[in-house]
Amino acid sequence: MEENVVYSMPRIGDKAPEFKAITTQGEINFPSDYKGSWVILFSHPADFTPVCTSEFMTFATLQTKFEEANCKLVGLSVDGLFSHIAWLRTIKEKIDYKGMKNVEVKFPLIEDITMEVATKYGMMMPGESNTKAVRAVFVIDPQGIIRTILYYPLSLGRNFDELYRVVIALQTADKFGIATPADWRPGDEVIVPTGGTCGAAKDRMEGKDEDLKCYDWFFCTKKIDKDTILKKILKK
Ligand code: BEZ
Repeated sequence: MEENVVYSMPRIGDKAPEFKAITTQGEINFPSDYKGSWVILFSHPADFTPVCTSEFMTFATLQTKFEEANCKLVGLSVDGLFSHIAWLRTIKEKIDYKGMKNVEVKFPLIEDITMEVATKYGMMMPGESNTKAVRAVFVIDPQGIIRTILYYPLSLGRNFDELYRVVIALQTADKFGIATPADWRPGDEVIVPTGGTCGAAKDRMEGKDEDLKCYDWFFCTKKIDKDTILKKILKK
């Protein structure tokens, strides 16, 4: 690792850093082109590598599902545009993996040979690699605010069910003013914000609100049907 080099990274709650980039779908201005949509901006280490190929095929197969949740996908690696194009062509024409074949990657893949974007977003982790971005995931909301950040090393392919769960859980928290407990999935009980007075705590313990199930005064949940959540979130 180089000495005296400070590698910064944006944090949850920050505005997504702005950039202009060339992608496999043309030029993009980020995040302004995505105003009004959720976005998953993710990096991968390198084109023509097996873990990345399995990830891209999975993400491309799930693209419609993410778009139904108003979430767009944008990929990035520090490879050049022609490498990206050649790799995506190979994926479509040659790779038959786990029942996925003829897979067309229709979301933009950013070329970042200068590492400008990868550096801005803290996707370069020199302890892991000086030349490849790690597997970073930034979930950005329709106002351009970073809401979740996940990092994986080069050797570990991401869990795309979890990425989808994160998008749905964030939207559910925003739309219903609740929080989601461990391992939450739509239809499971959600957490109702704690009342901020001694009176509210007493009411909770006395069971005044029949919709609440309280494990203690600071930990109450309620049911929201899966259908109610999905109807509010998914555009079908
Ligand atoms: C892969 O995607 O297979 C990979 C990329 C970089 C390092 C190790 C594995």
